[in-house]
Amino acid sequence: MKRLHLSVPHMGGAEEGYVHEAFTSNWLSTVGPNIDRFEAAFSERIGLPCVALGSGTAAIHLGLRLLGVGPGDEVLCPTLTFVASINPAVYLCARPVFLDSERASWNLDPNVLEDVLRARATSGKLPRALILVHLYGQSADLDPIFALCDRYGIAVLEDAAEALGTRYKGHPVGVRAPVGIFSFNGNKIITTTGGGMLVAHDPAWVARARFWSQQARDPGVAYVHTEMGYNYRMSNVLAGIGRGQLEVLDDRVRRRRDVAFGYAAAFADLPGISLMPQAPWGLHTNWLSVFTIDEKLLGVSRDDLIAALEAVNIESRPVWKPMHLQPLFAASPYYGGTVAAECFHRGICLPSSTNLSPDDQARVIDTVRSAVVSLRPSLRASG
Ligand SMILES: Cc1ncc(COP(=O)(O)O)c(C=O)c1O
Repeated sequence: MKRLHLSVPHMGGAEEGYVHEAFTSNWLSTVGPNIDRFEAAFSERIGLPCVALGSGTAAIHLGLRLLGVGPGDEVLCPTLTFVASINPAVYLCARPVFLDSERASWNLDPNVLEDVLRARATSGKLPRALILVHLYGQSADLDPIFALCDRYGIAVLEDAAEALGTRYKGHPVGVRAPVGIFSFNGNKIITTTGGGMLVAHDPAWVARARFWSQQARDPGVAYVHTEMGYNYRMSNVLAGIGRGQLEVLDDRVRRRRDVAFGYAAAFADLPGISLMPQAPWGLHTNWLSVFTIDEKLLGVSRDDLIAALEAVNIESRPVWKPMHLQPLFAASPYYGGTVAAECFHRGICLPSSTNLSPDDQARVIDTVRSAVVSLRPSLRASG
């Protein structure tokens, strides 16, 4: 049986033409018309200047540097995220501090943030920055979080790697903080095979990030460097893919939501399997179709379901393992309760690609339903 992956690239049709233009015009490096047009179209859509980079991780690295994060600084981050959210803070020799999620969205809990900021203010040393993640296509609750960060003077970077197309109270996410980032990794809602975008309110910050992304070479013909840089720029070939992908973003958002709600409808009669919360304040793209399993109600564990799907060549996976439970961050402080840990233990991500055919989605649904029937002890006992 053909393998069904979790989230695969889905080209819109125009991408190959733009890539072909790069070849015929020989713009095969990190400059050229595709990259200019991709940035222009992205800026127009998002309403901020931007710079296209090699990855979302690179964008976080440059963004934290723009916020002035450096050795010894504390950087706050929700614990429930992918490791790439916080690794760049470690590149800068900063110290991660992890915070729990709230139940309504699985994103950063503003109450935990408030407790930590109040305690840090009393002890006299506030964190330098917050990396605010929008998980799986759902917006964090921005109003209370920004109110707190404004009150305590905490710089915010929005990690919208998983949330291009997501909205908070009608506005796109990733653009409220002074710096935001997006990812075009191969599994994201649109892709450049690998890539990222940094957006910022201050055009001078975007220019600075662009300068750093090209080895921070000072103006002039000689290779003079007064600052340290990186090789982080996106190539003009991949930007061609980005141009085509951006043209179909709205369709991809609709489709991701359809896939998630399609599963939810198909499982509606099964107690103990529910779509992750859809917080009232935003448009959740459901970049991944994420469900929680209540083993007592469903009679089947999350891991049983992953194994049953794998047995018929369908990829699924647990929700992100929280950072405070990672060996890498065993020494980092963590504040909060068990919300993120519960999401991890009970959450499953199902195949969510926008080009998932109805037959393939039915295969996933049938596999889940038969696993419930065959593995559930009470149903087995009653025949
Ligand atoms: C929440 C989050 N932040 C950051 C990244 C990093 O993006 P990239 O893979 O483009 O480096 C990813 C995805 O990969 C992510 O899911």
